[in-house]
Formats: sequence, structure tokens, C-alpha cells
Amino acid sequence: MLIKYSNQPVPRSIATPPYSLCYTEYLKNNPKSTKSFGLWQDLCFMPQQTTTIPTIDFEKIRKDFPVLHQKVNGHPLVYLDNGASGQMPVQVADRIDLYHRYEHSNVHRGIHTLSQNATDAYELTRKNVQEFINASSHEEIVYTTGATDSINLVANTFGAANLREGDEVILSEMEHHANIVPWQMVAERTGAVIKVIPVTDSGDLDMDAYKDLLSNKTKIVAVIHVSNALGTVNPVKEITDLAHEAGAAVLIDGAQSVPHQKVDVQEIGCDFFVFSAHKMCGPTGFGILYGKKELLDAMPPYRGGGDMIDKVSFEETTYNVAPYRFEAGTPPISAGIGLGAAIDYLNSIGMENIETREQELVNYAVKRLSEIEGLRMIGESEHRASVCSFVFDHIHASDLGTILDKRGIAVRTGHHCAQPILRRFNVPATTRASISFYNTEEDIDRLIDGIHYAKTFFE
Ligand SMILES: Cc1ncc(COP(=O)(O)O)c(C=O)c1O
Repeated sequence: MLIKYSNQPVPRSIATPPYSLCYTEYLKNNPKSTKSFGLWQDLCFMPQQTTTIPTIDFEKIRKDFPVLHQKVNGHPLVYLDNGASGQMPVQVADRIDLYHRYEHSNVHRGIHTLSQNATDAYELTRKNVQEFINASSHEEIVYTTGATDSINLVANTFGAANLREGDEVILSEMEHHANIVPWQMVAERTGAVIKVIPVTDSGDLDMDAYKDLLSNKTKIVAVIHVSNALGTVNPVKEITDLAHEAGAAVLIDGAQSVPHQKVDVQEIGCDFFVFSAHKMCGPTGFGILYGKKELLDAMPPYRGGGDMIDKVSFEETTYNVAPYRFEAGTPPISAGIGLGAAIDYLNSIGMENIETREQELVNYAVKRLSEIEGLRMIGESEHRASVCSFVFDHIHASDLGTILDKRGIAVRTGHHCAQPILRRFNVPATTRASISFYNTEEDIDRLIDGIHYAKTFFE
């Protein structure tokens, strides 16, 4: 499985963790390093090649993920639940371990060296994220605990401050609950009204219906970039342009796009963009809200506490500047550093290469699944990423998931926190195989064999 792609650096080896080397020592020797796991970068990757087209060896990359090399229920694990949470490569786990062993200290408040080093490492991630999604400034990057938290932040600050009775918030029928419920809650408080873009039979947004919904009452459009239930990749730039013409602000839920494709927030033009670290080779408990600087600057704070203030007295409290104004209390420091390492890892492979490889795997999966008698795909957009959702008339998704699990195959079954879109397709649950670049054609074959086995069970 050697695939030729663009001129990205090539993983050289799965090096031994540098437990004996302290990150602060590394920074001392490499004061100009802006990489949050520069040490690992140096150890594991050859310098950028510009003249020859190197080969991305995804089989070798797969070895970076210890979790994939184990047996589950007596069978080698096939992990196809990447939409729920991606796996973490050893480079990221080691970077987090390094922090806990040698760098742990609180951030933004210590005069001592350890605290300053922890702060530097933690803040490097902001720069890393800025470059990764092409934000125009690191001040547009707000740390949160995940996509859900990011959307709640926008709904409760920007939403609460800008929505009045009768104003409209446009969502789509394929939203994750994380991009429905916070808006319903703020609509209840403000008297705003939720409008919903319908989805076509193929699983695409009905763009004509969207245009009809837009009006001068529309204040916010909040739409998923890649559907976690259908796999549809939505035309977010067009959605944004149309919303802006109507004078509305736009939030894009990028939880399922950032791990799988190059995202450029300036090109999309959206006002807010959210995602979670744990779906992109990073740790749980950490996520990002991108917001245009002028909007963040004008937004009221979200949670109160330490770190988000300028001055506090019992008479009056003033707040810190954005993005820190939105980051109250001690944050998940190691998780933040871990996200920086995850971005370095993804960059070392190249997002274009990841997208190309995943597209091959998804196409292969769709082809093989479609050959199975009685299987119905839910979501058949031509613009699909990473997700294959399907149903059988006579086999319940949870039964299928249980049988697959007994054969070491991890898929997600249920409503995928997207009940409205399952209702739209008249199904209570689907089985979802969600793919990442470290999956293989053999993983798909094992899934197909497992489904055939389950069918013999029920027929
Ligand atoms: C599209 C989408 N949005 C939002 C979320 C919520 O992410 P988190 O639970 O990490 O906050 C998910 C999680 O599956 C998702 O798939």
C-alpha cells in the first residue's frame, strides 16, 4: 500500500519516546522552535523535500497508533468509529506524557520558570491552530473544551447579545444535537425563531429552500460542514456568502471536517468555526472556537472566574481581552499541548494527502457496501467524506453492531446525536462506519465479511 502523493515530509521511524529528554531542555537548545512537539518532529521526520515526490507509507503511519494493534474479542481490532473519536498516535501521547512528567505547572499566572514554560507550550497551540485553519491572528483562536462548548459559547454570548424577539436562526436538518440544542435554549430566552434547511433524498442541503429561508430577519446561520450521520460535505462557502448577503452571521460546525480535509476559515469567510481535538488525533476535553476578531472583541464574556478578568473589585470588574476573556479558570493544559502535537502530526502527513487517502477508502467502502443485498445507504451525496451510514430492513443496527463487535469490528450504531436527520430518512438508527487515514482496505473487507456473517445469522 504505497501511495504517491505530494512533496510532504516522510515519517522516518517510530522513534523511542524521549523520556530522558525534557522539553524545556529542548526549548533551550531550540529557542526559535514554534513547534509544540518540535523534538519529535526532528526525530521522526525527514526534512521537507522539494525536488522529489516522496511516498506516503500509510502502512507505516498506522504503526504510530498502538491502539490499532491489539485484539478485541479475540480478533485484530478494526476501528471504524473515527467519527465518534479518532485515535491518538504515539507522538501525541508522548508529548502529553512529557508535559505531565517534566513540565506540569499552571499557566498564565506563574512567575517561576516551570509555569512560564508550561504557558509557552500551551500558547504555542494557539499559533499552531491559527496556521492550521488559516485564521488571520492567533487572537481569533479561543480555547474551549470541544465543539459543543464552542457552540454554547457563541449561542450564549453572540447569540444572546444579538437576538431579539422574532429574529431568526437558520440551522439545517442534518445538524448534530450540539448545533441544535444551544440555539433552541437561546431562542427560548430571546424569543428568536429557529428555521430549518431541509435535506434532499440524496442527503444534500436543499439550497433553494435555504435561499428562500434567508431574509432580513435572519441573524445567524449555523450549519454543519461535514455531516456526522450522512457524510455529506456541505458547500459552506456558498452558504456563508448567501448568509452575509442577507446580513446574518455564520457559524460552521467543523467537528467532522477539520480531521479530514484542509480547512481555510478565511476562504470560507465564516464568522465562527468550531471543532474538537479528540476527533483529530488529539486528546478529549479540548476544542477550538475560531471567531473573527472584531466579533470576539465585541462579545460579552461567557463564564466568570480567574484568568478572564482585567481587574476585580466588589464595586466593578473589568474583563480581559479576547480570546482570554472566554477562558475562565485553569484550563486542560496537557490537552491543549496535545492538540498542538496532533496538528504537527497531521501536518507532517499533509492534510491533502489525508483527504486523498480517505477518499480512496470511502469510495472503496461505498462500493463494497452497495454490493450487499438488502443494505440501504443513508446519505448518498456526491460530496461525501469519511462516513458511511446504512440500514437493513430486517436487522436492527444495534444487533449488527453487537455482532460486528464480537468479531473485533468497532462501528457506531444509533442516532449519532442527530435525531432529526434520522427521522427525515424514517429510520430510528443506522450503522455507521467512519474512516480515517490509518484504516486500510483490509479493514473494509473485514467489515463486509462481518456484515455477511450477521446476515446469515438473521436470515
Ligand atoms: C458534527 C459534530 N458536531 C459536534 C459534535 C460534538 O463534539 P464534542 O462532543 O467533541 O463536543 C460532534 C461529535 O460527534 C459532531 O460529530
